[in-house]
Amino acid sequence: MPRSFLVTFIKSGKTVEVAENEGVLGAGLQAGVTLAFDCRKGRCKTCMVRVDGIIDQSEAWLISNEELADGYALICVGKPRSDLRVHA
Ligand code: FES
Repeated sequence: MPRSFLVTFIKSGKTVEVAENEGVLGAGLQAGVTLAFDCRKGRCKTCMVRVDGIIDQSEAWLISNEELADGYALICVGKPRSDLRVHA
């Protein structure tokens, strides 16, 4: 049974439970949150937003180390590793 975390989308104020093996973007869309996206493969940056917390970015091909250091993430391939606050 995968662990899950609480992910809050700040603009809508919605909080959803997201499993550790689930993408944050897909979980948000499923809950009715309006989120920008295109490729859903970590390759276009359309979904890039600031995220507070620990989010797995091992499949986020296009994000730079500077963007990661600034707290940005590609949420389409981002899986939670802690509760998160998503600035979208
Ligand atoms: S939708 Fe393309 S990188 Fe996330």
